[in-house]
Amino acid sequence: MSIVQEKFQFPSKTENDNQFNFSDCEQIIEFDHPTKYRTSEWYTGQGKIAAQGDGRSFEISASYTLKAEVKVVEGIFESSNPLLADVYRRRGRCVAIVDQTVEEIYGESIRGYFQAHDIPLELMVCRAWESDKTPETVHRLLHFLGKDGCDVSRNEPVLVVGGGVLSDVAGLACALQHRRTPYIMVGTTVVAAIDAGPSPRTCTNGKQFKNSMGVYHPPVLTLVDRNFFRTLDIGHVRNGMAEIIKMAVTDDPVLFELLENYGSRLLETHFATLGGDSELAEIADDVIYRALFSYMKHEGTNMFETYQDRPHAYGHTWSPRFEPAVKLMHGHAVTIGMAFGATLAQQMGWLKTTERDRIIELCRSLGLSVYHPILEDIDLMLEGQKNMRRKRGEGGLWAPLPTGIGSCDYAQEVSSGVLEAAIETHKQLCTAFPNQGNGQQMYLRDLGLE
Ligand SMILES: NC(=O)c1ccc[n+]([C@@H]2O[C@H](COP(=O)([O-])OP(=O)(O)OC[C@H]3O[C@@H](n4cnc5c(N)ncnc54)[C@H](O)[C@@H]3O)[C@@H](O)[C@H]2O)c1
Repeated sequence: MSIVQEKFQFPSKTENDNQFNFSDCEQIIEFDHPTKYRTSEWYTGQGKIAAQGDGRSFEISASYTLKAEVKVVEGIFESSNPLLADVYRRRGRCVAIVDQTVEEIYGESIRGYFQAHDIPLELMVCRAWESDKTPETVHRLLHFLGKDGCDVSRNEPVLVVGGGVLSDVAGLACALQHRRTPYIMVGTTVVAAIDAGPSPRTCTNGKQFKNSMGVYHPPVLTLVDRNFFRTLDIGHVRNGMAEIIKMAVTDDPVLFELLENYGSRLLETHFATLGGDSELAEIADDVIYRALFSYMKHEGTNMFETYQDRPHAYGHTWSPRFEPAVKLMHGHAVTIGMAFGATLAQQMGWLKTTERDRIIELCRSLGLSVYHPILEDIDLMLEGQKNMRRKRGEGGLWAPLPTGIGSCDYAQEVSSGVLEAAIETHKQLCTAFPNQGNGQQMYLRDLGLE
């Protein structure tokens, strides 16, 4: 067996990187805190304090290390599966937040599981539509977790079961509870399973810009069980495939080919949970594992977005501005962003025309959108770009664009002229398609209208 070792060493990206220089200091004290005083088993930390010796100033540097595990499993809530019982038995209870639809479908088996293991369950059902991704929902969750609710302790992992909306808001509530309370994520949608679930980025939406408020707080354990996909609306399965395409285009050519060859069947069978095709089931697990590994290889090792060379921001540069403006499903907004990005990359000479066409064709073959007239609103696109530059920090735009199938680079500046020309080319390309680049079920339906 050969072991491949890849090491990620994020280089200093800016000239004025402000690293501490402890060599000049007169007094340095290092703290490597003893294990027995740990607040919780998942986090460790080290610190250093260095005094200049003038009796007036000193510098501190501290780092904390967290452990986050991801497992692809089957039958999470089957009583024969000891995984969750082993975590919660010794804590004497399980505090859980469960998506409303998931509770309707799986509530009985979740309750049955904890009953079978004789573990008291305190469960909050939370409606988690995109329109519920608000600070108010985070407040409600905090009420449940806090002193007036379950009074969750700092080392007691909250169980979160649901889709990407719930993982974002519940993850944020956990981050705020006691400033950092661990949580275990069971992602029940494709998006939550391979992307939002294990993601360190917890958040809520702002008024005009998605995901604008949040903190970095990954689950300590992410459990992925594709059996949940069986009950998903096919529109949500499709939506999740957008995020897998993102990982394939920027990082994994094998995954891209798997999607080209099996994507449609995986969509129709909800990742081989319908139809009993065992060969396809293996491919489904392979696709999920590859997507997760690619995602966490980059996002998990750059847990706090300390660096902006993030392949998985592909399709997410302009879309956070236009997605809420026209109420697109997240996956469709991302594929429009990716398809446009492919056209832009081709115009900039980064990508071959055949590769651009393969990317756009893969999205289309799965019924995902590749165009929307909102792209023609140049002011909105430039505003999105400006917002993104601010969000991504120092200097550049850091827009990942493909340089081939399975690789990418980062555009630091896209002038309004280049942007406008690429939009026009993309429009010409897509309006020639029979459906003008529209996808199936591309708009959000859960707009909070009762
Ligand atoms: N934090 C991140 O890094 C990150 C990454 C990607 C996406 N996101 C966010 O994720 C959100 C989209 O997540 P999503 O696509 O999971 O949507 P979602 O959470 O809205 O879930 C979709 C619908 O499916 C229902 N549902 C969930 N599981 C089900 C199941 N097993 N069977 C039947 N119905 C089920 C939900 O109740 C909901 O109505 C967006 O807000 C997006 O911004 C975050």
